[in-house]
Amino acid sequence: MKESIVKVLEELEAQSSLEKSRKVNIPPEDRMLTITKETGELLNMILRLKKAKNMLEVGTSVGYSTIWCAEAIAEQSGNIISIEQNPSKIRRAKANFQKAEVNDSIFIKTGNAMNILKELSRQEKYKNFFDFVLIDADKESIIEYFDLILPMVSLQGVIVTDNMLYPEKYREEMKKFSNYLKANPDLITITSEIGNGEEITIKLK
Ligand SMILES: C[S@@+](CC[C@H](N)C(=O)[O-])C[C@H]1O[C@@H](n2cnc3c(N)ncnc32)[C@H](O)[C@@H]1O
Repeated sequence: MKESIVKVLEELEAQSSLEKSRKVNIPPEDRMLTITKETGELLNMILRLKKAKNMLEVGTSVGYSTIWCAEAIAEQSGNIISIEQNPSKIRRAKANFQKAEVNDSIFIKTGNAMNILKELSRQEKYKNFFDFVLIDADKESIIEYFDLILPMVSLQGVIVTDNMLYPEKYREEMKKFSNYLKANPDLITITSEIGNGEEITIKLK
């Protein structure tokens, strides 16, 4: 892995530990709420195994997960579209992408995820387009997000959803989401205990 990427990932991991330790008082809107390092490794591995070229991310925050993915997608000269609504997090993410030297492959769409997903899904070019998707934003609309995303995923495309098990306050909602996926015969899906609980879903049809 490039030294510039390792350095930024390590800096963000240190900040994330501090954030989780509650030793510093970070206002809720500035919290990074990143995936775990283990989940970063998992995403990187899936992207490599799939030789993914086109990725969609819902919930950029300051770019920790995006950088893990950009590192792998660079192998295929691929691109990532990442959605985020918080302007100060977007500024931090862009600075991190530049420092990690991965900025060329990442396109941030600024605004509300529902509006942006609706806008993307209306465009013919995004039909069956993304071979990898990470869903990691607000949880209330997760089923609506998924329904908008699914037609944009290619056959055998992979969708990973974070926070299936932790924080516990989301567990009931995420269980409903998981059951919704399991009821769809065109998908295979598992809830893994990696990180905060990762739902790994493949679109079969
Ligand atoms: C859990 S964090 C993402 C963490 C990031 N994936 C990582 O691991 O580094 C969720 C992010 O989604 C953003 N978000 C929440 N609801 C959103 C919405 N409706 N539209 C766009 N962004 C949203 C938040 O501002 C926050 O930065």
